[in-house]
Amino acid sequence: MSNEDELLRIEGIRKSFPGVVALDGVDFDLRRGEVHVLLGENGAGKSTLIKMLSGAYHPDEGRVLVDGHQVHIRGAQDAERLGIATIYQEFNLVPDLTVAENIFLGRQPRRLGMVDRRTMEADAEVLLKRVGVNVSPRARVRELGIARLQMVEIAKALSLNARVLIMDEPTAVLTSEEVDKLFAIVRTLREDGVGIVFITHHLEEIAALGDRVTVIRDGKSVGQVPASTPEDELVRLMVGRSIEQQYPRERGDTGAALLKVEGLTRDGVFHDIGFEVHAGEVVGIAGLVGAGRTEVVRAVFGADPYDKGAVKVSGAPLKGHDVGAAMAAGIGLIPEDRKGQGLVLDQSVEENLGLVTMRAATRAGLVDLKAQREAAARIAEQLGVRMAGLHQHVRTLSGGNQQKVVIGKWLLADTKVLILDEPTRGIDVGAKVEIYQLINELTAAGAAVLMISSDLPEVLGMSDRVLVMAQGRIAGELAADEATQDSVMALAVSNPTTDKEAARGH
Ligand SMILES: Nc1ncnc2c1ncn2[C@@H]1O[C@H](COP(=O)(O)OP(=O)(O)OP(=O)(O)O)[C@@H](O)[C@H]1O
Ligand SMILES: [Mg+2]
Repeated sequence: MSNEDELLRIEGIRKSFPGVVALDGVDFDLRRGEVHVLLGENGAGKSTLIKMLSGAYHPDEGRVLVDGHQVHIRGAQDAERLGIATIYQEFNLVPDLTVAENIFLGRQPRRLGMVDRRTMEADAEVLLKRVGVNVSPRARVRELGIARLQMVEIAKALSLNARVLIMDEPTAVLTSEEVDKLFAIVRTLREDGVGIVFITHHLEEIAALGDRVTVIRDGKSVGQVPASTPEDELVRLMVGRSIEQQYPRERGDTGAALLKVEGLTRDGVFHDIGFEVHAGEVVGIAGLVGAGRTEVVRAVFGADPYDKGAVKVSGAPLKGHDVGAAMAAGIGLIPEDRKGQGLVLDQSVEENLGLVTMRAATRAGLVDLKAQREAAARIAEQLGVRMAGLHQHVRTLSGGNQQKVVIGKWLLADTKVLILDEPTRGIDVGAKVEIYQLINELTAAGAAVLMISSDLPEVLGMSDRVLVMAQGRIAGELAADEATQDSVMALAVSNPTTDKEAARGH
């Protein structure tokens, strides 16, 4: 390799926050036309590192070189001038502006001193086509789902004609088709000579897309290996030990049906949904994104209304559209959109962990703070939440550690029926196993678990029974030993309405 191929070099970067050394000597380099994966556990320092390149943070020590020259990236404009574009783990779009306005924020084309809307929207249209997303440039960002937001972010980065494109967990929220689309875009950019920094917790993506991998552990770069390195070796580098069993499901005896859903229908969204989850059981819900899985569990939890049907907990009918009633009956829901629905960002880890347990820890009307603190400390330890202490504000935790706090909060609550919507999204491989172990503990103690997951190996590895949804209906149910990648996918892409009619001879 000639030096000319080197776009970017980072040498000995250090960065501390109060109580935390986030980066403790990181080296990294990026070449033209490569995908360089940054790999590390939750809280290892990946996002902090790339924020040095986008100008969001400044290193305490160390150097950044672009094209062989040392640079000081003081803010977003410096980064833009150097051709560095970043797609953050937390989206950076303005909800009340349109898609086109977001893409060209601060750089709107002008005519006669006015924003030239028509040109802007036409240009946006071209970019959106290029990323292959079907969304109007005039749509408000607020109205878009999470996957489309991601695609708009990418379109925005493309509009900057970046030479360095940084993507912080871009696939965490995408469906497998969208991931394919994204990979195609990334490959095209690589061919055009763009250098791409790619962060992911999905190890299979590394060999599929990457060229080189830099592994970060506890704020230090601990190795640089080719992307073809076997997954177990990558895991060992990343967590410092090997992981024996990725899906440690321990099936026990099952008891009574704790959750019973009967004929649940919300017109136009889901139809005639019926299933049971028994004590001691993990039931997985598989399906393509858009199949209606989240909508169903939100209705079960009372977060959304339904038109027909019934939800019963331990045989007793539950009042519809009433989260308080669902919680009082012992149902918990760990939502898909954890940032929006699961956390109070400006409160401490301890306060967030206590949000649901408050009641359990209340004695004679007083919150037993000591009991609450002990429980919080125990679960944080178990999940390996990387933090300065229980007092740290959740906003300053790493993305994956924020997820762990939401999950911990519900695992602490004394729920009979726990519903998990994409429980391990954004969680590193080691912490995933800890979450699975906690699911085992819950079911061993007699709880019923209902788990939505788009991660097929996870559904197959952890469920005792799998329901597959397609187009708002349950397309089929598979016992653990019948559920395979193929049998689940066949149901997931089926059309339950016409298939049923066909079976009836229509
Ligand atoms: N503004 C901040 N104030 C205090 N601590 C911070 C701040 N930003 C990051 N940290 C800490 O720095 C460490 C590294 O966080 P970072 O977000 O870089 O991790 P990460 O590798 O991206 O993890 P994840 O996989 O969970 O996204 C964490 O312990 C985090 O709590
Ligand atoms: Mg991160």
